[in-house]
Amino acid sequence: MKVVVTGSEGQLGYDVMRSLLRHDHQALGLTRELLDITEEEKTLNTLRELAPDAVIHCAAYTAVDDAEEDEKRCHEVNALGTKHVAMACKELDIPMIYISTDYVFDGSGEKPFEVNDIRNPQNVYGKTKAEGEAFVENLLDKYFIVRISWVFGIHGKNFVKTMLQVGKTRKVLQVVNDQVGSPTYTKDVAEFLMSLLDSRVYGIYHATNEGYCSWYEFAKTIFELSDMKDIKVEPVPSSAYKTKAKRPLNSRLSKENLQRSGLSKLPTWENALERFLSEISDHNK
Ligand SMILES: NC(=O)c1ccc[n+]([C@@H]2O[C@H](COP(=O)([O-])OP(=O)(O)OC[C@H]3O[C@@H](n4cnc5c(N)ncnc54)[C@H](OP(=O)(O)O)[C@@H]3O)[C@@H](O)[C@H]2O)c1
Repeated sequence: MKVVVTGSEGQLGYDVMRSLLRHDHQALGLTRELLDITEEEKTLNTLRELAPDAVIHCAAYTAVDDAEEDEKRCHEVNALGTKHVAMACKELDIPMIYISTDYVFDGSGEKPFEVNDIRNPQNVYGKTKAEGEAFVENLLDKYFIVRISWVFGIHGKNFVKTMLQVGKTRKVLQVVNDQVGSPTYTKDVAEFLMSLLDSRVYGIYHATNEGYCSWYEFAKTIFELSDMKDIKVEPVPSSAYKTKAKRPLNSRLSKENLQRSGLSKLPTWENALERFLSEISDHNK
């Protein structure tokens, strides 16, 4: 299959490109320099010229805190940019995979959010990603909306890398323990997306690694698995760690509909973290 990947140099896009090549697909990566998705005509023309069999739309404005003061740009990229990609997919009559987020939900309660639960984002980033979802749903029949959360991968900034870095200079760290979700490895998401390309079970999916934890538990496990057990991690409530954008307390996403659609769940987040730490260690050799 000939597959276009937007945001191909981003954290997820990078591993999606690698998975596509491993699965013998033709991978056409688009960086922002090659295609700024906020430009409607250019997006339509570029995709017309490339004539792919599917698009995996990873490009996004992902600076969650900056978005609070940059709503216009965030909306242009995440809502309108997604609309432009969806318009092109509609014209070409090809499937679109749109990567979305747990932040489309309000984080209330303690139950995992189901794929069709009402979207009620609590910050600008989440609002614009939810608008992107609505464009995809309204414009297309052949679409996958794939919500992920707490992402880590080799090609980008993420919580795991930050912890490993901070752990080099500090022996005591405070990490929030009242936000609960699923850390998710880009390599596992990328492989999941390959299974979607081969299927026609269109719809909304949650593709996070299995299991839930708080950021505090996640941090502790990172240090345990990295032979940095001397670092003391102290749990604190979100109220002690103010950020510009409000974060959902409950980011649990239900994966009940995966098996019904014949799709496999992702490995546990602990297993994913172990593999990621060994990928980092190989990378640094
Ligand atoms: N990271 C997470 O924890 C997380 C959690 C849930 C969902 N997601 C979703 O997962 C997807 C991938 O995220 P990620 O972590 O890979 O993000 P990322 O590393 O920030 O990558 C996003 C990519 O999009 C590109 N981009 C930004 N504006 C663009 C524009 N106007 N036109 C074309 N490309 C543009 C960026 O290019 P530049 O660097 O040149 O700007 C970057 O390469 C996104 O849809 C995101 O919303 C991420």
